[in-house]
Amino acid sequence: SDERAEQLKEDIAHLSLIAIDFPVFSDGRGYSIAMQLRSRLHYTGELRAIGDVLRDQLFYLQRVGFNAFATREDRSIQDALKGLTDFSDVYQTSWDQKTPLFRRVTRPTAQEPRMSNINIAAFEHLLSSTKATLHRITQEFSPAVFASSLAAEDMVLTDLILRDRLNITIFSLETGRLHAETLGVLDKIQQRYDYTVTLFKPEQSVVDEYVKTNGLDAFYNSVEMRKECCRIRKVEPLNRALAGNKAWITGQRKAQSTTRTALEIQEDDAAHGMTKFNPLADWSEDDVWHYIRQNDVPYNPLHDHGYPSIGCQPCTRAIEPGEDIRAGRWWWENPESKECGLHVVDGKLVRVKSA
Ligand code: ADX
Ligand code: SF4
Repeated sequence: SDERAEQLKEDIAHLSLIAIDFPVFSDGRGYSIAMQLRSRLHYTGELRAIGDVLRDQLFYLQRVGFNAFATREDRSIQDALKGLTDFSDVYQTSWDQKTPLFRRVTRPTAQEPRMSNINIAAFEHLLSSTKATLHRITQEFSPAVFASSLAAEDMVLTDLILRDRLNITIFSLETGRLHAETLGVLDKIQQRYDYTVTLFKPEQSVVDEYVKTNGLDAFYNSVEMRKECCRIRKVEPLNRALAGNKAWITGQRKAQSTTRTALEIQEDDAAHGMTKFNPLADWSEDDVWHYIRQNDVPYNPLHDHGYPSIGCQPCTRAIEPGEDIRAGRWWWENPESKECGLHVVDGKLVRVKSA
């Protein structure tokens, strides 16, 4: 308790649970500690409030980053949980809501539509050329598969594919480290489109070996350890998912990152020996949200909580207003190393412009 938070940073990255004791409910230190752990040290594991935790504190504890509570034995958990919904919204920012209310009303969510920044005629043109690309894939590149990370861009493509029941199989790489909210999108797709996304998982024995040798969260230790984890949990399952197909589709956009500015809608993916399509290459973030709102497409609720880009849970944090949209991915690394190997091979981009 008397050590500076920064001194604990290395250790904190290895912890999956931190319990903070409230000796008496009126002791507010636990709130500040939680806020520091989440916002300054980017701690992503479970943060549990224990001790003299009262029902009316839960709402505020959640706002500073607690995601678990142990109430005293003489208190009802059910009653305490009701405290989480005492207020429907708050004005100020908090750990779980990075945007103040006055800015949030301009955020494009299905509930709070905003006046769009986009040129509608240009958008319609973009949309029809994207639809044409998808139809061409089914005619000329069958069998084709779509790799969905279940994020916003991929929900646009999912909607475009499933509304016309295009002959394209949708799969997701279930790394074993995804957010519960991301996995929840699978159910939303099932309910909305009556479609089951195919899941590809890593080899359990290889995961076990990595964890046994290096630790569960060894990816924080070095870029090499991180890439090895991505190789086991994403790249190898991707190779299995792509085998036997003529083309694969991704939701990448040029504007997402400096590493993606040269993205083409159609590319030769020499590494996988097939054609790769990025149908949304020219879409802006506003285009994506305009489509989602117009078509009431289901999406990952984390997008409304400061997560424009979503990967595995321990490797993704919410961003602060004004930060780059990929700032929350592998935030402890340099921007140039921030690709997971799905779209790069041996450090080189797999991008050979198609004729
Ligand atoms: S990453 O390379 O940094 O992880 P990003 O999250 O931007 O990629 O997603 C880019 C595209 O990669 C997605 O639109 C999707 O096509 C593919 N992708 C990323 N993660 C997954 C996943 N878990 N399962 C399937 N496809 C994925
Ligand atoms: Fe592992 Fe993180 Fe890569 Fe997911 S994003 S595979 S947890 S290193």
